Amino acid sequence: MSNVKSPKPKVKLVQLHDLKFRPMISAAKIKRRIREIGSALSQDFEGKKPVFIPILNGAFMFAADLVREFRGDCELAFVQLKSYAGTGSTGEVRVVLDIERAKIEGRHLILVEDILDSGRTLHHFLQHLAAQNPASISTVVLLRKPAAVQFPIEVRQLGFDIENKFVVGYGLDYDDLGRNLPSIFVLSE
Ligand code: IMP
Ligand code: MG
Repeated sequence: MSNVKSPKPKVKLVQLHDLKFRPMISAAKIKRRIREIGSALSQDFEGKKPVFIPILNGAFMFAADLVREFRGDCELAFVQLKSYAGTGSTGEVRVVLDIERAKIEGRHLILVEDILDSGRTLHHFLQHLAAQNPASISTVVLLRKPAAVQFPIEVRQLGFDIENKFVVGYGLDYDDLGRNLPSIFVLSE
């Protein structure tokens, strides 16, 4: 309609508490990747009625999109973990919300996690699950910081490897804010 040239698009920063974040992975890119992961899992687990286990709170959005890309029967069981890295080396992980044993024993489990940082949380939780005799355990992670991993975890499906910087959005928070952002943002220095 008008001849006025639109100005060069500026990067839209998001402010959460005291920090600013810049766009890193778009919603469209996340969606495309989840579609691929969903179809790979649909093939791998055909007829196996897997139990998807999202780790709350961070994985809620990823899991909601992922299960919608899964074709076939599956179940869902949520867990919530709290990690206490405060004391350093011990790094205890407490299961705040657990799953009934019947959903684990003899079942094919697909753990769904938002981000693999040190790997401590998943490492501890995988041991907790393995002790309850599932048929198999697979891990699906949206983001991984390869430079931060201290506890190597075998990842069956990965969304994206990212640099070792703090990210928010798409379920991930900074002091409880930012989980509702539909895409992923990185701390802007
Ligand atoms: P890990 O036990 O060190 O692998 O930490 C995993 C948990 O720490 C994730 O489930 C997240 O809740 C949180 N976390 C790690 N890195 C980030 C980040 O960059 N942004 C937000 N949360 C993070
Ligand atoms: Mg988490």
